[in-house]
Amino acid sequence: MAAASAPGKLILFGEHAVVFGEPALSTAIDLRTEVYVRPHETWLADGASLEEPKYRYVKAAVARTETAGPLWFEIRSMIPVGSGLGSSAAVTVATLASLHSLRESFDPRTIAREAFEVEHEVQGRASPLDTTTAAAGGGILVRREEADGLLWTIRRDTRTWSLHRCDLPSLTFVVGDTGISAPTGPLVAGVKERVDRDLDAAEAVARIGQITLEGLHALQRRDLADAGRLMDENHALLNKLGVGHPKLDRLLRAARPHSFGAKLTGAGGGGSIVALTDRPEDTRRAIEDAGGRAFTVRTESEGVRRIG
Ligand code: PMV
Repeated sequence: MAAASAPGKLILFGEHAVVFGEPALSTAIDLRTEVYVRPHETWLADGASLEEPKYRYVKAAVARTETAGPLWFEIRSMIPVGSGLGSSAAVTVATLASLHSLRESFDPRTIAREAFEVEHEVQGRASPLDTTTAAAGGGILVRREEADGLLWTIRRDTRTWSLHRCDLPSLTFVVGDTGISAPTGPLVAGVKERVDRDLDAAEAVARIGQITLEGLHALQRRDLADAGRLMDENHALLNKLGVGHPKLDRLLRAARPHSFGAKLTGAGGGGSIVALTDRPEDTRRAIEDAGGRAFTVRTESEGVRRIG
């Protein structure tokens, strides 16, 4: 038998702007997905067929890996699905890692590259931020050009992403889930259409890029008040790009009196908010009172790891 786990992620700054080549910052969080694998007479995941849609990442990961015979997978995940917390990246990375472990190999860089290809194949679009964060853990800055702390560069078609390790202090966040799921593809397309015709939207994208770097520096000097202010500003700009939702704003209004700042995280249009706070209980309760599902998460330094 072999087993591996990988963490979920939060995008702290820069979603959507990253599609236009601006930097974005994510962190791994202390919610993990574990994948156990053992030889079996037929292909199964949790006793069900790999053909079931919820196992499409597992199936695509299997297709990229040579295996001696059929396998039984067991997946245990703490990461809510469809909340923008990187559940698909974590299951992809942990599945690939368990498959590699069966063959006595384990290289996070190779796993990160393969996981990006799997996400790209299954989702039709993807940036390598989620899969790199699940593989490497900690804080990850993605940008076009290479800089200090470079982990690896990933290329696809004409695009290049340079993924960097950046040290973040230990931080506490409350995630507020609207329960509204909105597919990422149309949101990304809507932003592109807006940026092409509206100078204000193009300026918002550029400003988000600056905010990402300012936010990273604020977090690194532990100036949580400044980081929170930048999160608020980032959220207002995401609203300008058309990826907000009234329920996101309702949860934000509830969270802000108890936190340094808050913004939507991930693709938006629904999904989740993230609030940076030193009063997680008050923040959680306020979000729940406003009709959201809320839970506390912390930064996680460990990426993919073998179990056992
Ligand atoms: O849905 P998530 O958490 O994978 O976030 C999508 C982030 C976008 O910037 C909107 C798209 C992307 O691929 O970077």
